[in-house]
Amino acid sequence: MSADVEHEPDMVQQLRETLHDMRQPVAITMALAAAALTEPGLPAAARARLDQIVEQAEWLADMIHGCLVAHDQEEPDEIDEPGQDLADIVQIVGEVIAAECLTWPGEVTVTAPPGPVWCMLRPVLLRRAVSNMLDNATRAAGPAGTVTVEIQQRKDSVMLAVEDNGPGFGNIPSHAGLGLSGVARNVVKHGGRMECSSGVRGGARVSLWLP
Ligand SMILES: Nc1ncnc2c1ncn2[C@@H]1O[C@H](COP(=O)(O)OP(=O)(O)O)[C@@H](O)[C@H]1O
Ligand SMILES: [Mg+2]
Repeated sequence: MSADVEHEPDMVQQLRETLHDMRQPVAITMALAAAALTEPGLPAAARARLDQIVEQAEWLADMIHGCLVAHDQEEPDEIDEPGQDLADIVQIVGEVIAAECLTWPGEVTVTAPPGPVWCMLRPVLLRRAVSNMLDNATRAAGPAGTVTVEIQQRKDSVMLAVEDNGPGFGNIPSHAGLGLSGVARNVVKHGGRMECSSGVRGGARVSLWLP
């Protein structure tokens, strides 16, 4: 058996190969958690944690898949199955907050309409956007801080705002600096917009308007 091997694959190719190979451990993580969920007499708290592990692994698998597919297709959004571009923002915000609160002890308040609130973004992209916004907000607020999330159905769009009681936009140590630029790009690509401003408590307020 032989294969054509490039001696020095470029960075994109290396990333694609790494993403490709990440699929297996992610699938195994899901399978292991699913197997553990079938154990008899599993305490409810352990079951809830395993469900969260499956949820996180599914999200990771979605992101890996989305990234690999985006590279293979010219316009992946147009080729996707109809209906895949719709996400319930209330549900996704709830899930991301539940995951965030596993590692952050502060307080989160959510103001949202009771039922589902749909927006025209693939769930995997919305989840990434919400996760980036919450990650920044909790980091800015610190372990004893508070974060508020507002979801409002407007006439032609859905508004999502994440506000914290930290030191204000730009006044926290930077990490990789790759989060919000990607969020803005994805949101604009889907007909929405992002705004960074000051909240009433002096912290940052990051808002999205999504069609
Ligand atoms: N909630 C926030 N409070 C203060 N500054 C923020 C907040 N969110 C984002 N920022 C600023 O925007 C920058 C870019 O954010 P992001 O792209 O998520 O990068 P990173 O989190 O890797 O630093 C942050 O480094 C910070 O300066
Ligand atoms: Mg960030």
